[in-house]
Amino acid sequence: MTQNSVLAIILAAGKGTRMKSDIPKVMHSIAGAPMLVHVLNATKGAAVGEICVVVGPGMDEVAGVAKGANPQSQVFTQGEQRGTADAVKAAQGAFVGFGGPVIILYGDTPLLRAETIGQLSRELANGADIVVVAFEADDPTGYGRLLLDERGRLVAIREEKDASEEERAIKLCNSGIMGFRSGKTLTDLLSRIGNANAKGEFYLTDAIALAKADGLDTHKLRGNPDEVLGVNSRAELAQAEAAMQQRLRGKVMAEGATLVAPETVFLSHDTRIGKDVLIEPNVIIGPGVVIEDGATIRGFCHFVEAHIGTKAEVGPFARLRPGADLGPSTKVGNFVEIKNSEIAEGAKVPHLTYVGDSSVGVRANIGAGTITCNYDGVAKHRTEIGAGAFIGSNSSLVAPVKIGEGAYVGSGSVISKDVAPDALALTRTPQEERPGWAARFRKRRDRK
Ligand code: UD1
Ligand code: CA
Repeated sequence: MTQNSVLAIILAAGKGTRMKSDIPKVMHSIAGAPMLVHVLNATKGAAVGEICVVVGPGMDEVAGVAKGANPQSQVFTQGEQRGTADAVKAAQGAFVGFGGPVIILYGDTPLLRAETIGQLSRELANGADIVVVAFEADDPTGYGRLLLDERGRLVAIREEKDASEEERAIKLCNSGIMGFRSGKTLTDLLSRIGNANAKGEFYLTDAIALAKADGLDTHKLRGNPDEVLGVNSRAELAQAEAAMQQRLRGKVMAEGATLVAPETVFLSHDTRIGKDVLIEPNVIIGPGVVIEDGATIRGFCHFVEAHIGTKAEVGPFARLRPGADLGPSTKVGNFVEIKNSEIAEGAKVPHLTYVGDSSVGVRANIGAGTITCNYDGVAKHRTEIGAGAFIGSNSSLVAPVKIGEGAYVGSGSVISKDVAPDALALTRTPQEERPGWAARFRKRRDRK
């Protein structure tokens, strides 16, 4: 533990009553990742040395997310949700003897950027005892208000429920992001915070008035309103999602992707898109998707955990499920679903097809209506289609099965045995023809 490294404590024990949910609030997702992950990522970007996450009893899933994002993070449990000061206290084992700055973050502010944490750290390094990230809200309802003296210096934070009419008119709000010069400063103040307020809770925000009375140097830092939205309800979750989407779209466009109608394209926190990628309207990109340079994504596609190679063309109306790996210059057309399958360079799956647990060789062509029957009701099996193979339309490939390189499968076949390279396999019943039958049939019918 170096004395000048920064320790961050993320509060995530609140039940989130206003979400009306059975899952902890910080587990609700924004752009495909729990809100807590976004806050953890912001601390990573800001070179925070140590991370503590405070969870509620039985919130094992939240603890798992904290450890998953950063195995070094320490998890503390707050026994009873008695307010934000009480929650910070739960982590005192980490900060009581800590000489460096301690930053408090809330797990329900997912839009926070690393730069803001960095700015806060610098203010503390420059000698402030306490720094609060504040913002000007058009509608301050629900936030703590910053009370300033006649010289504009921060003297206290008043929670909405305890505020007078006059104080409620104040638009300068507490973002919840707060920094303390050292573990000692924080420990001293926490020990004196009481719960004589409207909610009967221990408010971390009371630390400001106590610090001021001690003659400490309390600063405020102007934050960006689009970073500090606190999510307490489903409506605010949707607002945060919209703001995050706008940010993610801006980023991929800045990196060289064309989004024809950006407001209709939905990205995930980890989406990676190369340059000269064209994305048509109404595309949903779930977590774990990589799209390489020069690919074209036509309208109405849905992707999750998929890789799309250079210059591939996908859609319209294509669905790529986990493990779909499209090689360079592949083509996946309309109403095609691909799962856990590699489609090698130049292969084409142009229409109405399901490819699951399969490999499709270089420049193979999969006809319309082909189905890989990968599931026998008990287990999943693989289909291997060799390079240059041609699968006729409306064929079923019953896995496990191999189609050799350059082989042909006749349209409408049900293939359940391996096909040798360069062979033709077909299982169609021979066509029968009865000359004049239709004319005789019509005559009979019309006589009735
Ligand atoms: C809090 C601030 C308010 C600020 C707002 C910004 C206090 C008293 N109020 O209000 O000034 O404007 O955030 O969004 O700090 N938590 C715990 N244990 C608890 C209570 C809360 O871990 O006992 C956690 C929650 O999980 C949440 C965070 O602390 O991540 C904030 O709690 P919340 O109840 O949402 O506080 P607000 O009423 O939004
Ligand atoms: Ca909140």
